Amino acid sequence: MTEPARDGIPGRRSPNLFFTTEVKASIAKADLIFLCVATPTKYTGSGAGRAADLVCVESATRMIAEASEDDKIVVEKSTVPCRTAESIREILSAVGKPGVNFDILSNPEFLAEGTAIANLVDPDRLLIGSLTTDRGLRAAASLVDVYAEWVPRSRIVTMHLWSAEMAKLAANALLAQRISSINSLSAICEATGADIDEVAYAVGLDKRIGPKMLKSSVGFGGSCFRKDILNLVYIAQSLHLPEVASYWESVVDMNEYQKQRFSKRIVTCLYHTLTDKRVAVLGFAYKKDTGDTRESASIALVNSLVAEKAEVRIYDPKVEEDQIWQELKWTAPDYAEVQKRVTVCKTSYDACEDAHAAIIATEWDEFSNKDTDVHIRDVHGLAVVGRLPSSYSTGGGMQFSNGTLEATPAPTPPNELASSPDGLHAGHTNGHLNSNGKLSWKENLKPITPLQKHKPIAKDKVHMDWTQVARIMRKPMFVFDGRNVVDAAKLENLGFRVESIGKPGWSLR
Ligand code: UDX
Repeated sequence: MTEPARDGIPGRRSPNLFFTTEVKASIAKADLIFLCVATPTKYTGSGAGRAADLVCVESATRMIAEASEDDKIVVEKSTVPCRTAESIREILSAVGKPGVNFDILSNPEFLAEGTAIANLVDPDRLLIGSLTTDRGLRAAASLVDVYAEWVPRSRIVTMHLWSAEMAKLAANALLAQRISSINSLSAICEATGADIDEVAYAVGLDKRIGPKMLKSSVGFGGSCFRKDILNLVYIAQSLHLPEVASYWESVVDMNEYQKQRFSKRIVTCLYHTLTDKRVAVLGFAYKKDTGDTRESASIALVNSLVAEKAEVRIYDPKVEEDQIWQELKWTAPDYAEVQKRVTVCKTSYDACEDAHAAIIATEWDEFSNKDTDVHIRDVHGLAVVGRLPSSYSTGGGMQFSNGTLEATPAPTPPNELASSPDGLHAGHTNGHLNSNGKLSWKENLKPITPLQKHKPIAKDKVHMDWTQVARIMRKPMFVFDGRNVVDAAKLENLGFRVESIGKPGWSLR
């Protein structure tokens, strides 16, 4: 586990978590059995590439049936297609010993990697699905009692078995759909000069929409989203609902498009050729605070860079080197070419040394140079989110003044700007002049409190020193920020050309 540590409370109770490979003996002793086996996408046969492979569910179910001497409650934890409980019931009653009864519950898992322990200790909700028979409801009540030891009963929701199974697929599909939606808008932002972080912030203030899962990125990854949506697509197709199937399929298509779009932007900005150019890929995990690389956007990115004949240097703070090679071996069209062109580095500086470009593929805090995840400034009483209107212009620009936008002269050169004493950074922006004719950041860049609920970037983490990176990269040096973790203005002051997802590129500013 690589997620931020949580303090245990030692001494409160005796240990009650044990690990064993004595599966049958443990089944025989248990009252409740959680089925937590993998349900990956099928690779061959009917439904290949879409349907969930239920082979592990079936073999675990058979094992439960064979090893049970008395009544059991079987809890589906794995993500399964709707009505899988019916197949489980059939197997249990056909294989189980006479007189042994089984009740089946659905209790889908909503943990996210990187925050799994926090989600377990303090879940938004717990879902328990059962049949509405007396036995089914009694079984559900026993599972409620287990969770009620630490989860408030008001957060434990019971419902029909099929709804609970469906709710898990629906939750992942809707979460992924939000990301694809914001990513589709990021393409429009890049072409028009709008800023996707500002747009996401604005729409997220609407309570009906909310701010979460609206972070534009180089594409979602992880073991769940793609798999579960394709499973949903397969279910819809099997139910002869082609319109529904194609609606959800487009969420996955948009994700693929986002990855390709980002790769193309890199090639275009690097003067239409990557041949033998060294590029650093910062991050290989599918998101921060995990060493998991399944379906990571970095995999497609690295394969496309290799196809362009770049020299690729990968650095990730947590992913094991072997894991990176395994992923590339499974996915690369030409693994020999990958071995020739890819190096896995021990530090971000190794990766960036002599590189033409640094590409941020995972939002690890250490790559960030921001103080907060959104910049909100108080400019004469107005909340200004993100960059000031003139912050990226090289000549004169527009400036908020007395609540209106006014034209301003060319900005002060970056090295004459004082950095903000209150921790917000001036960057390459037009500040207001005070009575001495000096820029007065303190007055103008105070955080606005009512809107500012954004978490500060943790200061205890080791952060990359981008000044040092600027010394070791080749010029012109590019940063492609696939996660919007850097403050572009600050990096541009160091001489970088920054291209961020969903923001106008350096060349357009
Ligand atoms: C997800 C669900 O969140 C969780 O409830 C379910 O049980 C398992 O699948 P997980 O895959 O661990 O969890 O991570 P999540 O935080 O949802 O992120 C998934 C992917 O989307 C990551 O690649 C992440 O970087 C990306 N993402 C997430 C975005 O691109 N933008 C966002 O705003 C949020």
